[in-house]
Amino acid sequence: MGSLEAERTTVGLAARDPSGILSPYTYNLRNTGPDDVYIKVHYCGICHSDLHQIKNDLGMSNYPMVPGHEVVGEVLEVGSNVSRFRVGELVGVGLLVGCCKNCQPCQQDIENYCSKKIWSYNDVYVDGKPTQGGFAETMIVEQKFVVKIPEGLAPEQVAPLLCAGVTVYSPLVHFGLKESGLRGGILGLGGVGHMGVKIAKALGHHVTVISSSDKKKQEALEHLGADQYLVSSDATAMQEAADSLDYIIDTVPVGHPLEPYLSLLKLDGKLILMGVINTPLQFVSPMVMLGRKSITGSFIGSMKETEEMLEFWKEKGLSSMIEMVNMDYINKAFERLEKNDVRYRFVVDVKGSKLVDQ
Ligand SMILES: NC(=O)c1ccc[n+]([C@@H]2O[C@H](COP(=O)([O-])OP(=O)(O)OC[C@H]3O[C@@H](n4cnc5c(N)ncnc54)[C@H](OP(=O)(O)O)[C@@H]3O)[C@@H](O)[C@H]2O)c1
Ligand SMILES: [Zn+2]
Ligand SMILES: [Zn+2]
Repeated sequence: MGSLEAERTTVGLAARDPSGILSPYTYNLRNTGPDDVYIKVHYCGICHSDLHQIKNDLGMSNYPMVPGHEVVGEVLEVGSNVSRFRVGELVGVGLLVGCCKNCQPCQQDIENYCSKKIWSYNDVYVDGKPTQGGFAETMIVEQKFVVKIPEGLAPEQVAPLLCAGVTVYSPLVHFGLKESGLRGGILGLGGVGHMGVKIAKALGHHVTVISSSDKKKQEALEHLGADQYLVSSDATAMQEAADSLDYIIDTVPVGHPLEPYLSLLKLDGKLILMGVINTPLQFVSPMVMLGRKSITGSFIGSMKETEEMLEFWKEKGLSSMIEMVNMDYINKAFERLEKNDVRYRFVVDVKGSKLVDQ
């Protein structure tokens, strides 16, 4: 069966309350069941959703909580039904670790829309125990929610793909926005936004970054390859760009007006909301009627799309822009993320850090 006699323990970094301060925490992992993969975490990206969760922004947080859902690791052990993965192989885990497998989204392989999906942390697993995420030495994950990392990709570079990357790839595919020549906007140049620029450019789109300041302008144009850069407070530039975009991927993580961005869209343009925002957003109806525009949203991507996106990333020879940090820097990293001070994703070197619960 591949299972062990006793439950094993692991050490992670957990938030204990809405202050969001992480500290070492030892907890049990279930045994490797027949469909499970036991993984030693090497790298884990820090997504703004982790910040929302540790700070209880949505009022749904349970503690102790080990966040982290952009996980790249090495297979230590597999269950008896697992033939897709081998010990020693590099694999990835994202935001999901379970789903019902029966509902319509599950049947259509879009388990990210299953109403019974299980999140990789801050959720309850089928055994009734809390799930814990990737800022930990090890994880046990059902094989369906594990992806292979294509050979040749640098593992630390891959971490942000497992949430941020698939989060932009999935809506572009789903809403028919893959065709080259489209004009796309990326609103908010953070972790998800920088993936948006990379992926949209690789699809052959003309990409405009819309940012709250001009601080990232040079990097966006010279290093990330964006075609145009708009500062949202520059009324003249925003006016000049009216009616020019087929879609906008809106990654802003806090409440913000939608109308300035709806104005940038062409006829039938789409505003795709990504940010997890706990206050109502507002717009007047003519802003969407006159131009038949849509406001929609999208939630990560399916396991299939994750695999497809990893292949796409490899085929196009893309790379992410990350800042690697150790586990002992994690609280500082969250603080900097909150202040919009990261270019563009923190990736924690879990393997290279010592984790001891005192
Ligand atoms: N839908 C999904 O499936 C999904 C998946 C992943 C993440 N998310 C959510 O998407 C949002 C973005 O995630 P992320 O990891 O990309 O975050 P991030 O790295 O913090 O980037 C967000 C960007 O938004 C802009 N921004 C504007 N006002 C801000 C403010 N008050 N505070 C911070 N940033 C502000 C900044 O860009 P400029 O400097 O260019 O203005 C910032 O870089 C979060 O709400 C996250 O929870 C959703
Ligand atoms: Zn995320
Ligand atoms: Zn389901």
